[in-house]
Amino acid sequence: MSNPIACRLLTAAALLCATAGAQAQRTRTNFDDNWKFHLGNGVDYTKDFNYGKDLIFAKTGDAGTTPASPRFKDAGWETVSLPHDWAVTLPFVYKNDGDLEAHGYRQTGPLFPESNVGWYRKTFQINRADSGNRFVVTFDGIFRDSRVWINGYYLGSNLSGYSGVSFDITDFLWFGKDNVITVRADASMYEGWFYEGAGIYRHTWLEKFNNLHLDHDGGVFVYTEDGKDGVNVNVEATLDNKALTTQKATISAFVTDRGGNVLATTDEATAQVPVDGAQTVKLATALHMPHRWNLDDPYLYRVTVQVKDGGRVIDQATTKFGVRTITVDKDKGLFLNGKPIKIQGVCCHQDHAGVGAALPDFLQYYRIAVLKEMGTNAYRTSHNAPTPELLDACDSLGMLVLDETRLLDSGPEYEAQFRKLLKRDRNHPSVFMWSIGNEEWVAQTNDIGKRIAQNQVTLAAQLDPTRLCTEAVNDGNVWHGVNEVLPVRGFNYNLSGVDPYRKDHPDQPIMGTEVASTVSTRGIYIRDTPNAYVPDYDSCYPPWASTAETWWTLAADRPWFMGGFAWTGFDYRGEPTPYGWPNVNSHFGIMDMCGFPKNVYYYYKSWWTAGDFIHLSPHWNWGGDEGKVIKVWVNTAARDVTLYLNGKSLGKKEMPRNGHLYWFVKYKPGTLKAVGTMADGRKIEGQVTTTGKAQKIVLTPYRKTITGDGKDGTVFNVTVLDAQGREVPDAMNLVHFDVKGNARLIGVGNGDPSSHEPDLCADGQWQRRLFNGKCQVILQGKDGDGAIELTASGDGLQGATSVITAINP
Ligand code: GAL
Repeated sequence: MSNPIACRLLTAAALLCATAGAQAQRTRTNFDDNWKFHLGNGVDYTKDFNYGKDLIFAKTGDAGTTPASPRFKDAGWETVSLPHDWAVTLPFVYKNDGDLEAHGYRQTGPLFPESNVGWYRKTFQINRADSGNRFVVTFDGIFRDSRVWINGYYLGSNLSGYSGVSFDITDFLWFGKDNVITVRADASMYEGWFYEGAGIYRHTWLEKFNNLHLDHDGGVFVYTEDGKDGVNVNVEATLDNKALTTQKATISAFVTDRGGNVLATTDEATAQVPVDGAQTVKLATALHMPHRWNLDDPYLYRVTVQVKDGGRVIDQATTKFGVRTITVDKDKGLFLNGKPIKIQGVCCHQDHAGVGAALPDFLQYYRIAVLKEMGTNAYRTSHNAPTPELLDACDSLGMLVLDETRLLDSGPEYEAQFRKLLKRDRNHPSVFMWSIGNEEWVAQTNDIGKRIAQNQVTLAAQLDPTRLCTEAVNDGNVWHGVNEVLPVRGFNYNLSGVDPYRKDHPDQPIMGTEVASTVSTRGIYIRDTPNAYVPDYDSCYPPWASTAETWWTLAADRPWFMGGFAWTGFDYRGEPTPYGWPNVNSHFGIMDMCGFPKNVYYYYKSWWTAGDFIHLSPHWNWGGDEGKVIKVWVNTAARDVTLYLNGKSLGKKEMPRNGHLYWFVKYKPGTLKAVGTMADGRKIEGQVTTTGKAQKIVLTPYRKTITGDGKDGTVFNVTVLDAQGREVPDAMNLVHFDVKGNARLIGVGNGDPSSHEPDLCADGQWQRRLFNGKCQVILQGKDGDGAIELTASGDGLQGATSVITAINP
């Protein structure tokens, strides 16, 4: 039984020393560095290193002359670090092909055999002293259809571009000598209808553990239940035995706080695991007056599970978890820790400006942080298993997650993908619900869809009794099919069906799994067909979609409607809408590809944060258009607003709840100012001013201190000021970048959805044009500490230098 008082003063390290004769053997090492990379060929074996010709499946370990053979010479290949997305390095190309358009006109997919296959090789050693342990390599994500070999031996394949894969490589290792792992990624076929990247675009890990060990694939499941006097902490630990005889062990767990203080321990249980078998042991303890995880204070505990043989710790794994309850009420919506919470959510794809699908971890945190600033409280991982580090960011910054699997399918492949997702992600407090699919229009309204959904819902309940499932269904008031068996009905669009559906099915909770799809181009106010830009207002949307105001008003007015997920938080590559080429990325974002707000951002922020701000659009630089009537939008949560042009009142208006205000104003240069009254009577102000020409560059690092671990980094946002220090909102200058110190630049962007400028530049040639006053450069530190200096320069502009510091981990 737990003994919190006795244990409170012990740290986890002390507990380990007290109970273990030796260190546990498990290690988890990042395996991202020093890969060799080369493009292969999707149709011609002579350009694909004889893959497809050599008889590499005839004799074990004989990989012929292909890169899978340890004898293959890769000295001429490029050295890369993971995550790596080769698609983002390819030029844009126009062909009249819908799938190419949907993927953002990058040269992967079936039309480009010269660049749709990539080979990766990594040479590594394992000490002879470590023989006797088990070794597993895990790829968190490879796009896609990957084949993997080690030392010429075939390990297996993984179809999915989103679900990771692990291989036990122990049998094939040479200890104290070179080993070579080879991956062939085949991106000749797409999986989605959006930019997907190509290659090993997530992290890779090498794990080492005892023959008897906690299953590396979801072997620790921790969840809490409210008890009489706090919470019960349940820990299900699964042991795998890869030894040659039955293994006995004792197993126990302890809970620590952030500081490593032990708060509770479980009893010790015994396990007897047969050869090549597995056994799940249930452990339990309790936490009194727990510090609950919530969106403003996302507190994380740790549970450490120890496996002991005769008192010696032979394996241990530490998992973060949060104490929180999620409940769903058909009439009152969603509750977090017993408090009602409306879903102010966004759907997102996984790419970012500059880096494509290969995001370093710090960018995951950046994206979640900027979404939170807008008042977003939930994130839908449309339409696939997310990168694990995205969930870490949501756990530690406080963001709910609707975690989605790729396809609604209960066959072995996709059931296994969903199983993997459930086991991998069920410890994350941020994950509040599972989505078993998106817009599966072939199956969702028939008996097949219903049976598949029933299978997936049952599987989820078995592996995770703490959460419900939904599906993102793009039908209105339709019952037959998946909706009959879904615990929560998800609406994609079709909002006219919401009220009739609720009337007909009052017992089923409802949420908006996908709404909005409003299209806008940041800083553009006049529709521009040749450049494929649409105005930056909450006004344009495709036939199936709506404005932000339409869906949010509907959601806000209905207590039983749990809220919804706007499509999308950020623009993403591919799906250019409503125009195609030269447009290469979507306009659906509330923010652009860099995370720069469009005007609709301020609509959401007004009603999602009720913050003290007034936002006016458009900018006030319309030289040459004097006297022209301009529609001025005002977004704020103020009760009323008075607008002034150059000090003269243009009238006062009451703000409709969850709405916006507008005035038609004859353009005259100067200052347009809005003064609002908040509900408590306080006055707030916002303004736009006519600026002069850009004179001076400003570099703003998102973080001024980074860890010098070779992985951490930051974005720098770039703006320009006029002679009087005012930001110039329509500047389009070209800016050059140079970095000094222990760092490299890894990508540039500006949010222009029709830009064909490269995301990556050669060393010494980094540059990007501003798009409506902004661009972004992404910097990653190298190993080591010290000052890092980024310099920006541009023709006719006063340059800028920004210094950040890397500190030793
Ligand atoms: C939805 C779909 C999304 C995206 C969106 C664009 O129907 O689920 O993936 O295509 O439309 O509006």
